[in-house]
Amino acid sequence: MKHLATMGVFVETAMDEYGRNGLTTTLAIKRYNDAWPCITGCTLPAINALPAWLKKNDYQSPTDGRDCPFTLGFKTKYPFFEFLNGKNPNYPDLGAQFNNLMSAYHQGRPSWMDGNFYPVETLIEGAKTGEEDVFIVDVGGNKGHDLEEFISKWPNTPGRLILQDQPHVLKDIKSLNPAIKPMVHDFYQEQPIKGARVYFLHSVLHDWNDETCQKILSQLVAAMIPGYSKLLINENVVPNTGAHWQATSLDLIMMVDLAAKERTEQQWHQVIEPVGLKITKIWTLLDSAESLIECELA
Ligand SMILES: C[S@@+](CC[C@H](N)C(=O)[O-])C[C@H]1O[C@@H](n2cnc3c(N)ncnc32)[C@H](O)[C@@H]1O
Repeated sequence: MKHLATMGVFVETAMDEYGRNGLTTTLAIKRYNDAWPCITGCTLPAINALPAWLKKNDYQSPTDGRDCPFTLGFKTKYPFFEFLNGKNPNYPDLGAQFNNLMSAYHQGRPSWMDGNFYPVETLIEGAKTGEEDVFIVDVGGNKGHDLEEFISKWPNTPGRLILQDQPHVLKDIKSLNPAIKPMVHDFYQEQPIKGARVYFLHSVLHDWNDETCQKILSQLVAAMIPGYSKLLINENVVPNTGAHWQATSLDLIMMVDLAAKERTEQQWHQVIEPVGLKITKIWTLLDSAESLIECELA
């Protein structure tokens, strides 16, 4: 307890007497406390395997999720998301813990949905208002936490809100705002929702190498309407110098677990533009915050 108090997990109120603080209370909630076993469970074996993997591969960065420090550390042939999706009899809780981590990860951080970050009202003003029109599709949206946040901050949004992810992830949802429609969708396949006002990708592309990102983006390009649809990519844009430690540590996690990376602005241009998109603007609030990369059809 003395150690936990020095680390700020409890408050030491007198000799051998402790009280709770905000962190203690938060850690008592499953959705939050799952972050610890998830991060340690998903990453420590991969980080420990990094030196051996690099030595074996001539100190080149991994580019294939089927052969990276994660697969070496876990002694598995399955890449990260397949491993989490039931291919791991020794780690049966990891998938659910990961989904809980995702739902909590963004909390308390500056959000592009707050009025002072990105002009959400211009998206809403220009949107079609028919019953069948779709305002936003959250592709790889996990359990819907971003759309929940969006509808709570912008309750008068017209059109439908669609949440897409893999079946085992959507099955894990306990409750969802009725304005949000869950839809099983594999983002490598044809995007079934055509002509939405916004296609949204949050922390999806940093999981993949450039070639795979372009496969995912191509399916969205085919569904977008010129001059109307926007693609919003919510990711870190790492500055050329003076990167924030949160971005660099996530970059290492992406490298060991997924053979992927966080990207600089130049790297984002390189991955996005060849598929027929242009970056119209990058919105960044703070160095430590994820940026919003706004794209349209080129
Ligand atoms: C790092 S998480 C990001 C989740 C969410 N967008 C967020 O920011 O909290 C990546 C998401 O991609 C989903 N995903 C992985 N492979 C997918 C696929 N082939 N089709 C659709 N979603 C997939 C995962 O289930 C997961 O929810």
